[in-house]
Amino acid sequence: MIEQSLVLIKPDGVARGLIGEIIKRFEQRGLKIVALKMLHPTIEQAKRHYTEDIAKRRGEKVRQLLLEFITEGPIVAMVIEGVNAIENVRKIVGDTESKSALPGTIRGDFSHVSFEYADKRQIPVRNVIHASSSKEEAKKEIDVWFSIDEIYEYKRADEQHVF
Ligand code: PPS
Repeated sequence: MIEQSLVLIKPDGVARGLIGEIIKRFEQRGLKIVALKMLHPTIEQAKRHYTEDIAKRRGEKVRQLLLEFITEGPIVAMVIEGVNAIENVRKIVGDTESKSALPGTIRGDFSHVSFEYADKRQIPVRNVIHASSSKEEAKKEIDVWFSIDEIYEYKRADEQHVF
């Protein structure tokens, strides 16, 4: 039941100074950051993250926009661990489409644009953050951004109160 999820604070989130605010929300829920780094993604990393599957589901144009967006500046990548971490993290992050994300979630508090608006203008939805949507996706995505020796095991001091 303990899972790991891959989270990326996208270039807009970093440029807007939201790194601390975002990390705080995961930590206060009792979720554990077990890997963390800032990096400027290469196009190769971006393509491994946003695979051909996205083009099949959402169209090639959307994939191209996502690739341009994620490589435009530094991002913060992290692995977050906890009970049902994938579902818990996605709840904190909010709906994929900013327009539908509820206030109180990260996307709902810091973004609002719809896919329709973005598609018409041929721009990406700057939705601040990415989080894995399934166990299989998490495993694949963690492998894109982290090597095994960059993922840590440790005890948080408040674990006795969280579990
Ligand atoms: S999810 O969360 O995995 O279910 O996301 P999914 O619906 O498969 O979409 C994958 C990523 O594509 C982005 N996306 C779009 N961007 C711009 N315009 C349109 N129409 C669009 N449709 C999907 C979406 O934000 C997902 O990227 P992330 O990085 O997860 O936000």
